[in-house]
Amino acid sequence: MSTLITNIAELVTNAPEHAPHRAAGGAGFGALTRAALVIDDARVAWCGPAAQAPPADEVVDAGGRAVLPGFVDSHAHLVFAGDRSAEFAARMAGRPYQAGGIVATVEATRAASDAQLRAVLGKLAAEMLRQGTTTFECKSGYGLDVENELRSVRLAGEVTGEVTYLGAHVVPPEFGDDLGGYVDLVCGPMLAACAPHAKWVDVFCERGAFGADEARKVLAAGRDAGLIPRVHACQLGPGPGVQVAVEAGAASADHCTYLSDDDVAALASSGTVATLLPAVDFSTRQAYADARGLLAAGATVALATDCNPGSCFTSSMALCVALAVREMGMTTQEAVWAATTGGARALRRTDVGHLGQGARADLVLLDAPSHVYLAYRPGVPQVAAVWRDGDLVFDARPHSLG
Ligand code: NIG
Ligand code: FE
Repeated sequence: MSTLITNIAELVTNAPEHAPHRAAGGAGFGALTRAALVIDDARVAWCGPAAQAPPADEVVDAGGRAVLPGFVDSHAHLVFAGDRSAEFAARMAGRPYQAGGIVATVEATRAASDAQLRAVLGKLAAEMLRQGTTTFECKSGYGLDVENELRSVRLAGEVTGEVTYLGAHVVPPEFGDDLGGYVDLVCGPMLAACAPHAKWVDVFCERGAFGADEARKVLAAGRDAGLIPRVHACQLGPGPGVQVAVEAGAASADHCTYLSDDDVAALASSGTVATLLPAVDFSTRQAYADARGLLAAGATVALATDCNPGSCFTSSMALCVALAVREMGMTTQEAVWAATTGGARALRRTDVGHLGQGARADLVLLDAPSHVYLAYRPGVPQVAAVWRDGDLVFDARPHSLG
């Protein structure tokens, strides 16, 4: 059955043919006004001026609202148990964020049943969907032993195809200061167990977690097992993370909060996407990443939530867009592109993150006339409806929308 969505005030497609200002800082953002779109067989079959729309089996009147590609959240840690709200409160009272907090979640995650972990995952996945996120990545990394990392990637695979093996999150307490011993486990039996259930391998390359040598080893082993690298880089301070990511041909270097000029140049001249996580900087009261410097250098920038119980417990891509605009100086167009097509690039996906003809029919109807409202009305729920794979999967349309 085909569906025509018409009377769209602004249709953000990010298709090259709709991006006239591409060279002028729009970062590929493309949109049509007074537009319509046809969904057929889970794909975008047609998009163009509403006046020229072809007939379809069903017609949806967007009522002068905006339609965007579903958000692509390329960085999230959703397989966990426990609660770290007290840690957040302490941080807001002046304590710094430290990688060590991860261990508290590891303890709770190991102790949780599969059903408990599934309940958290299901709740967060549903929360993401009703906020317009139609594709998301999900990492392991709170198991940190063979059994619990395997369980984590398996459970993640029940809610997304974008599963990341993050055995190299931190060294768990039972290894004491035997970093080498733990890296051997991560690159050996743990990887062998997890690789069949994952697409990506990630490492937290940071002081207090893993250094450049260990990170290289983890990424190389992951690659040998058929996984594609991505890296947590330069979150808490300057370090080798970005260089390691670029060297390894990683799809993405994430955080990028403390970059040197060489890091920016390396990202700009590589295929590694710079994934910025402004809600982490917000929730850890850090400086924001230099999005303008990255964009000026020509790097590809993505925005993601990093939803996790420690450094940032939001699943809202709209918040990330608002922070990127207000705090990182991105234009509304750049931020929306980074949260959709940018996220897709970070996951090496060409079927999502845009609404050009042939794209997967993952789209969001905003209860607002343009994408600008995502930043203009921060904190306000504005998602009226969501289609994923052509199916209407969330519907909060006011009656006036029909
Ligand atoms: O991306 N940086 C490492 N991992 C997460 C934090 C995880 C946690 O604090 O539990 C992050 O910020
Ligand atoms: Fe993370």
